[in-house]
Amino acid sequence: MPNYFALVPAAGYGSRMGNQLPKQYLILAAKPMIYHAVKTLCQSHKIARVFVVLSPQDPEWQKYDWAEFSNKLTVLYCGGETRAQSVLNGLAAAPGQFTVEPDDWILVHDAARPLLIQSQLTLLMDALADDTVGGLLAVPVADTLKRSDANKCVRRTEPREHLWQAQTPQMFRYKMLVDALDKTINMNITDDASAIEAMGFHPRLVHCKDYNFKITYPQDLELAELIIQKRKNQCIP
Ligand code: CTP
Ligand code: MG
Repeated sequence: MPNYFALVPAAGYGSRMGNQLPKQYLILAAKPMIYHAVKTLCQSHKIARVFVVLSPQDPEWQKYDWAEFSNKLTVLYCGGETRAQSVLNGLAAAPGQFTVEPDDWILVHDAARPLLIQSQLTLLMDALADDTVGGLLAVPVADTLKRSDANKCVRRTEPREHLWQAQTPQMFRYKMLVDALDKTINMNITDDASAIEAMGFHPRLVHCKDYNFKITYPQDLELAELIIQKRKNQCIP
């Protein structure tokens, strides 16, 4: 049976957030944002190990106490210039810390998606357990889509049928993911599935039924705060 590992790329700067502090360390529900994703992943009984990939110069991580996750968490200071490079560097470094087999599952999850809950994580793992390729959490596009010209005038309306917004975790076999990222590292891809697609595979989309949006702009953080508060009131773990 393959093992499951999680890898959390957290070496970005959060430039669209417009804050000096990288967004993964902005405070959300009294914790640095990255805490929430790490907690959900570490609490999963299926996941053997959670690797967090930080920038080699990261000064923030050590300011917090991570002892509650010490039985599951490994921190790797090997982030790169792009998300894909951070993931690839993390995947290269992980076997030095823990035995990882070629067919083991890797769940790559953005540090900037603090709203992932256990039920949706399990949904993904269960849906893909017997899949040869793997896949990702995603949501069907809800809004009408407009394509603009350079002046922000509508050129056409794009049909939204069969269009999905990719989320994370994205779950692929270790070797397939390493090979795919390695071959596409100069292609400006922004998620792991794109690398797998470039190899000619067809990752499966698993419809995420709860909030799991990425914190990109300040208003996303405000909304996430409200959602976490609401979940606390309803005792959703
Ligand atoms: N990431 C990373 N290494 C990079 C760039 C991004 O590990 N060189 C991580 C981020 O820390 C984040 C995830 O990839 O957890 C998703 O990326 P994104 O939302 O784009 O975060 P940033 O790149 O930090 O933000 P921005 O694009 O606004 O600068
Ligand atoms: Mg980015």
